[in-house]
Amino acid sequence: MTKVLVLNGPNLSRLGTREPDVYGHATFDDLRAACESEGLALSLDVDVRQTDDEAELIHWLHEAATNSNPVVLNPAAFTHYSYAVRDACALRTAPLIEVHLTNPASREDFRHTSVVAAVASGTIAGFGLNSYLLALRAIAEMPS
Ligand code: DQA
Repeated sequence: MTKVLVLNGPNLSRLGTREPDVYGHATFDDLRAACESEGLALSLDVDVRQTDDEAELIHWLHEAATNSNPVVLNPAAFTHYSYAVRDACALRTAPLIEVHLTNPASREDFRHTSVVAAVASGTIAGFGLNSYLLALRAIAEMPS
């Protein structure tokens, strides 16, 4: 079974209580459960992780590159400025899909730049938890 890493950056553990008017009421546990259930339906072994630590996120991207694991990545605020995360994404040896719960293009100016987008296979943004599920579907349908 293909293993997919679903990696989440800073503050996403606070979903549910974090600015619910922006991010909705679903919690990180809801996000994990939705990804795991979609993974089961798609015959993907989904491993959902979250960190507030840039170094830990980079180490997980290295792990994915070493093992050729596809990645669904919500880099959160790192999206907008972390060249270190961008360079770790560029190491990828399998598809990597950038996802966002919200649509950063419709928010503050500083969110309009993604330093990761150019090295991702594609980006899905603005559909809440469904952004992740759509990304998992895209991975399942990619030729391996
Ligand atoms: C986010 C959008 C980012 O701008 C923000 O910093 C986040 C979440 C999203 O999923 O909509 O933390 O990546």
